[in-house]
Order: sequence, then C-alpha cells, then structure tokens
Amino acid sequence: MIPLKTKDEIDVMFENGCVLSGILEGLKMMTRPDITTQELDEYAEARIREAGAVPAFKGYRGYKATLCCSLNSEVVHGIPSKNRKIKSGDIVSLDLGLKKNGLFSDMAVTIPVGVVSEQVTKFLELSEKALMTGIMNATPGKRLGDVSSSIQRFAEKHGFSVVRDYVGHGIGRKLHEDPVIPNFGNPGTGPRLEVGMVLAIEPMVNMGGYQVKVLDDGWTVVTADGSLSAHFEHSVAITDSGPRVLTNCPIGFKKGDSFQI
Ligand code: MF3
Ligand code: CO
Repeated sequence: MIPLKTKDEIDVMFENGCVLSGILEGLKMMTRPDITTQELDEYAEARIREAGAVPAFKGYRGYKATLCCSLNSEVVHGIPSKNRKIKSGDIVSLDLGLKKNGLFSDMAVTIPVGVVSEQVTKFLELSEKALMTGIMNATPGKRLGDVSSSIQRFAEKHGFSVVRDYVGHGIGRKLHEDPVIPNFGNPGTGPRLEVGMVLAIEPMVNMGGYQVKVLDDGWTVVTADGSLSAHFEHSVAITDSGPRVLTNCPIGFKKGDSFQI
C-alpha cells in the first residue's frame, strides 16, 4: 500500500525540504580540502536541531551519524569520521534527512572538490540529469517503471551504469515507505502514480560497472570495480500539475552562518 499525502501534508513536507536543502547548501560550501567528514556531520546535526527538526538517519537501523558522506568510489552510506579528510579532486556525496512535524525529508547531492577532470565534471552533471529525467516522469497516470526506466536509459546512454542493490523509496510519516523505487526497469510496469504520492528518487550512478559491495564497517557501499559513483536524491510529490520537488528551496541557509567560505 502506497500512503497518500494531503495537500497540507505536502506543504509541510515542502517546508521541511526548504530547511533540509538550506542545510545542504551550507554543507556544500563547507566541503573543501582539509575539512573532515565528521565536521560536516556535526554542522548538519546542529543545524537540523536548531530548526526544531531531528536527524532522520541517526539511530536508523543502528546508523550512528546524521549525514551519509560518501567519497569517490563510495556509493552511499559513508560514515562520517574525524579521520576522513576531504581533499582536492574528490567527489563527495552528501546525503541528509530530517523529520519535522512528523514528516520526513530526504535528499542527496554529489559535488566536486577543487580541481576535477572534465570527464568527472560531465559525469556529475549527467548523473544529476538522470535524476531530473526520473522526476520529469513522475506525473499522475504514469507508472513507476516509467520513472525507473527513464533513469536507467539516460545513465546507460551516456556509458554509465545504475546500482541495482539500493533503491529509492516512498517518504512521508516514515523515512522509507512503499513503493520501492529502483533506478532501472521497464516502462509501463509497476504501480500507477497518483496525486498525493511522495517519492524519494535517488539514482546511484557508477562510472564503471553496476556491482557494489559493503565494507567491513557494515555500512559503506563501494563500487566493486573501484570506479567513481555519484548519488543525487530529491523528495518529489505527485501533484495535479506534475512533479513537485520538495527539496530544492535553499532558504534555510543564512548568510553569516558560522563557517569559512
Ligand atoms: N538516503 C538514504 C536512504 O534513504 C540514506 C539512509 S542512511 C540510513 O536510504 F542510515 F538511514 F540508513
Ligand atoms: Co533516501
């Protein structure tokens, strides 16, 4: 059963998404050479709590941090650590979620730090476009497989692969609700999209093969072939007038916040 949200609930989820994307804007600016992933995590948690929200991932299945920060060949679920420093040339995925007024918001971006090759810049751009392609297909009356397959087709057309073992999800009163949202599949299949559904669409795109493995820490997912991986995620409502991205309004970011740029 896919839970449907009322217009009011979706408006609350949009407000939550404003807070979340604002915090993510702050994190993006802080993601510079020499900062540790733990410092990013501390900033994220402080800002979430300051907003009267709670971190969505902390305590989830025993996860210990607020942020998932995955570098280079890490796909998702990288655990922040004081021993992990960002350096120039890294690509860094920042995946963050929060709960406020009983409703969750979840998003992720992958950004380059310092100087990266043109090929890597293109890879990040196209991976984000794969997410956008999925979002554009999230309209009432289409099927979930239309979203999934559009993401896969787009990524593969550009010579990349999509991860199979991890998927997006419905989101609302729980972080993970039905439906499961693969980033691969066939058009015209799966549940029909209805007004009131909210989907966390989150392609994980690998430069090489789609295979992944989990490191000994039990969390960090890496590409099996060591190739780079990018991760982009938005929480998206299905509305009468089409897809409404709920996680793209960076007004939560205040100039003069306590970090160096
Ligand atoms: N964006 C990811 C997801 O929705 C992050 C989950 S990390 C976890 O699954 F720690 F909460 F599992
Ligand atoms: Co998610």
